[in-house]
Amino acid sequence: MISLAAGFTDSASLPVAEARELLQEILRSPKTGRSALQYGTTAGDPLLRRLTAERLHAADGASTSDGRYSPERLLITNGSQQLLYLVAEALCDPGDIVLLEDPTYFVYLGIAQSHGLRGRGIPLRDDGLDVAQLERTLEALRRRGDLPRVKLLYVVTYHQNPTGITTTFEKKVRALELLRRYEKAAGHPIYLLEDAAYRELRFAGPPVRSALAAGDPARVIYAGTFSKPFATGARLGFGLLPPALFAAAVRIKGNHDFGSANLLQHLLARALASGRYDEHLALIARRYARKAATMTAALRAHFPASVRWHAPAGGLYVWVQLPQRINAGLKSKFFTEALANDVLYVPGEICYADDPSRRRPRNELRLSYGDASLAGIRAGIAALGRVARRHLL
Ligand SMILES: Cc1ncc(COP(=O)(O)O)c(C=O)c1O
Repeated sequence: MISLAAGFTDSASLPVAEARELLQEILRSPKTGRSALQYGTTAGDPLLRRLTAERLHAADGASTSDGRYSPERLLITNGSQQLLYLVAEALCDPGDIVLLEDPTYFVYLGIAQSHGLRGRGIPLRDDGLDVAQLERTLEALRRRGDLPRVKLLYVVTYHQNPTGITTTFEKKVRALELLRRYEKAAGHPIYLLEDAAYRELRFAGPPVRSALAAGDPARVIYAGTFSKPFATGARLGFGLLPPALFAAAVRIKGNHDFGSANLLQHLLARALASGRYDEHLALIARRYARKAATMTAALRAHFPASVRWHAPAGGLYVWVQLPQRINAGLKSKFFTEALANDVLYVPGEICYADDPSRRRPRNELRLSYGDASLAGIRAGIAALGRVARRHLL
């Protein structure tokens, strides 16, 4: 079976030797070893928090000193997944509404469902969120008296999972302005939750600033991760949160776990401080660029001309759109035939919120080149192409 489904990272380039050396350094002296093997604090290792905050500040090229990138607001979590969960727990009540991209990161839909939230999808354009539609949706919610139930807009802004789309900085600014405008009618803050899980996996195109760099960062919650860029198995991510939310998230995290694994936080702090993290990033950027190019070349070679996709500039995914009449959903013949040909993909339909205001498309596929080998990518796409040709005849 060739899996083009899982969001796994490239196993062959995981930083095994680097992690071994760094752990040896940590455990060589009793002093550093003991501090890494003891409980830490719930908010996270102070050095890792500082280095992460500085890294974000530098990535945004920001010259501000107004505290928006303060380590005091930075919470280390068990993957960014935990941060997403903590934010839902801190902010939302059953029946609340979360605005999200259409399509979005399907695991987030699980978090929303488990909190009893209703999702409202905002379409994506090639340059990110359709801000005009966001305004129309907010206005419709206001007219129906539903705005008090809206707590946040969740957006995966860099090389999005599942579409690979990056949202421009200008769109983030406009989205924040809109949320602010509708706050009065909502009666409470409406936050922009920026999930930047794939920000550091960029191999083409210019860097894009985060929503934290917008005029007013008081409504921005930024979720980042060390998983995808370094080691998914370390399960470390982070959030930069407005102060009131930070306190609530720390309280909830304390109830979960007293803090993320201290030893692994020391490992990550050393990887960042020593430059090994950045060296690793440069290496994987080259690998993913090659894998993405292999996948899109195979798509060109094996898929009918009526099938659409974008060449990714980062991240792990290619989003394939078949003609609308083709059903490639979980229960479709297309999916079953792909499985029978030993290829697994993520049916695009599971990336759409249960939003009654539109039909859920079934003609899309999320393909991942993260962990597949180059030969696996070529063979998998060739097999999928054969299935697609049969359905498109
Ligand atoms: C968009 C997005 N956000 C968050 C996560 C969570 O990753 P982690 O918990 O490893 O940081 C993922 C994982 O695939 C993802 O795709």
